[in-house]
Amino acid sequence: MRFVNKVPIWFMRQAGRYLPEYMEIRSKNSDFLKLCFDPALASEISLQPIKRFDLDFIILFSDILVIPHALGQEVKFLKNHGPHLDSVSSKKDLNYTNLNKSLDKISNIFETIKILHAKRSKKNLIGFCGGPFTVLNYMIEGGTSKTHDKIKTFINVKREEAKDIIKILTEISIEYLKRQIESGANYVQIFESWAGLLEKQEYEEFIIKPNQQISEEIKKFSEQTKIIHFPRGSRENYKIFAEEVTCDVLSLDQTYPKELPSFLREKGITVQGNLDPQELLKEGDGIEEKTKEVLEKFKKNNHIFNLSHGILPKTKISNIERVIKVVRNYETSK
Ligand code: CP3
Repeated sequence: MRFVNKVPIWFMRQAGRYLPEYMEIRSKNSDFLKLCFDPALASEISLQPIKRFDLDFIILFSDILVIPHALGQEVKFLKNHGPHLDSVSSKKDLNYTNLNKSLDKISNIFETIKILHAKRSKKNLIGFCGGPFTVLNYMIEGGTSKTHDKIKTFINVKREEAKDIIKILTEISIEYLKRQIESGANYVQIFESWAGLLEKQEYEEFIIKPNQQISEEIKKFSEQTKIIHFPRGSRENYKIFAEEVTCDVLSLDQTYPKELPSFLREKGITVQGNLDPQELLKEGDGIEEKTKEVLEKFKKNNHIFNLSHGILPKTKISNIERVIKVVRNYETSK
């Protein structure tokens, strides 16, 4: 992957609540999952940020929690409360028989990707899934958790049950991504948003192993598809991740080992990131400076500009435009 002189740009959660045109559609569709399964609307939402900002990557509008839904767990998105999932504590609680039956339940998503593929012209098209541990976290916690007590207890006390579900999640994620690729995605991103909860052997077992299995199978299936990994919160483990998991692109948050950018450069891995989304909530003229700092920090790397996590709902459109302007006017010396 070579980008001559210009740094490409997209934003995690670029299709979302900070956009009035998204809110317009959302106000008429109270069921978030239904929206994810409506190819006409989901493709329209995916393209909203592209129309407005001419970004370089289209990301599928969907959610990582469609997978627990496909596995038979009830998933609801409650207004202002985020996701709510019925509790499960073992593989037996899932209404899971086989991969194909489960994926049939969410096959409309592949129709969305086909529509996007037909309309994407030269833009990259990103499909995605959650990392198996992150999805397990929501399945066991029943939603967003501050303390993550349930998942920590689960993997300690019911280790074999945890491994069983991780195995199913890894298998279904592989098949799910393959079908997204078949439908037209040329990039896939694996959002392992809660990687930072684990250390040492647990990081190895529940983060490295499943993510590497996904990478391996995707590369076997389609060598040219680019894989973006985002093991958020990995801190010092970011380096171990980059050593052990096949990535084309590694998405960075705010904290990673100092030597990581040069290590990634040597390995030919592109850096994605890492402007703090909080910066976009601030008033004043710091945004241009912070954006330049990110560009300078990774100027020797192959770099895709992005945030260190998703755009926050209160972000002003004008602040997004300011970031884009700086990135578009920046030329790398490479
Ligand atoms: O990036 C994009 O624009 C593509 C679409 C996308 C969504 N969610 C849409 C969404 C993607 C890639 C995701 C990933 C996702 N979903 C993650 C991984 C990234 C991360 O944020 O760490 C996680 C953990 C989820 C689970 C999830 N979905 C939560 C916790 C919530 C509620 C909190 C929140 O941020 O709203 C959602 C809801 C969700 N997913 C919305 C959108 C646009 C808001 C729903 C609404 O309109 O009310």
